[in-house]
Amino acid sequence: MSIIEVKQLTKSYRVYKKREGLRESVKGIFRRQYEEVHAVAGVDLSVQEGEFVAFLGPNGAGKTTTLKLLSGVINPSSGSATVMGFTPWQRKNEYRRRFALVMGQKNQLWWDLPARDSYRLHQQIYAVPESDFKQTLDELTQLLDVGRLLSQPVRELSLGERMKMELIAALLHRPDVLFLDEPTIGLDVIAQHNIQQFLKYYQEKRRMTVLLTSHYMKDVAALCKRVVIIARGMIQYDGSLSGVIDQFSGHKLLTFEFADTRQPDLSVFGEIVEETWPKIQVRVSRSQVPRVLAEVLRDHPIEDVSVEDVPLEEVIATMFRDSVIKDNSLATATPS
Ligand SMILES: Nc1ncnc2c1ncn2[C@@H]1O[C@H](COP(=O)(O)OP(=O)(O)O)[C@@H](O)[C@H]1O
Ligand SMILES: [Mg+2]
Repeated sequence: MSIIEVKQLTKSYRVYKKREGLRESVKGIFRRQYEEVHAVAGVDLSVQEGEFVAFLGPNGAGKTTTLKLLSGVINPSSGSATVMGFTPWQRKNEYRRRFALVMGQKNQLWWDLPARDSYRLHQQIYAVPESDFKQTLDELTQLLDVGRLLSQPVRELSLGERMKMELIAALLHRPDVLFLDEPTIGLDVIAQHNIQQFLKYYQEKRRMTVLLTSHYMKDVAALCKRVVIIARGMIQYDGSLSGVIDQFSGHKLLTFEFADTRQPDLSVFGEIVEETWPKIQVRVSRSQVPRVLAEVLRDHPIEDVSVEDVPLEEVIATMFRDSVIKDNSLATATPS
């Protein structure tokens, strides 16, 4: 049995369509035009207990909306989802006690209070027994090395420290399922790394099921074996991280080191990525790799040659860039 089961889940928003120009704006007052934004457009997903899944996609792809649906923050337009057998948007207390949602761009902690006070409040809300509370808090503050910060108002903390405090708040009731929405956004490399290491350790220890969205491929590579890619509200890929390259990269990188002094023009074969004579790297379409290799080897004395995949970061960046949602590609205007 999977712990998260999502079937044909959709969420659409009706948004007021802005009109261009004054005349159009005035018209708009009398005859408002709405359009439907399909934030989540038929998602199927099934996650097994203990999996750490990366949920990736370009801005506006529907990641946050999906996590909000799974946390019961919003209601769906259609479709179904169960998490540990609960339907999230029924908002049962039993469910609330067993999952947590952390959003990198939103604070749950009281700004002017020390984190400790917020944690006490969480303890009350989630009815965490005193001994469990103490034990978990000790463990988490030690792992994240923030014991000395517990009594300081949250607003005085750095972004990285604050995120650690947010994570503690989310984990105090020992959730079985954790939704992490960009938990390392805006953090410096060291803070990012610390949080990664912590998540890796703690997820393995507690066998939590985690769904993580992040723009940092380092997070994903360090933490997740499985990657789910969403764009335009629909799942585009579900598989291993390395498989992303196979599926989405139509190119390979060929690097030649020439043994003669004649500098050839390789731009006929593809985009020149780097040229530090006598080395030239060229991006070649996959299907053309054998032909290009054969031709270059035939026409030039070669010292060395290598064929590599395009780096994953680049594949994903390209994919995200190319699938940026255009305003009207999805929206259906519904005058009313
Ligand atoms: N409350 C809302 N009202 C109207 N549109 C929304 C709302 N929330 C999200 N959207 C739209 O839904 C789409 C998906 O948003 P979101 O789930 O936040 O994407 P992501 O987290 O992948 O960047 C976007 O086009 C966004 O503008
Ligand atoms: Mg988002």
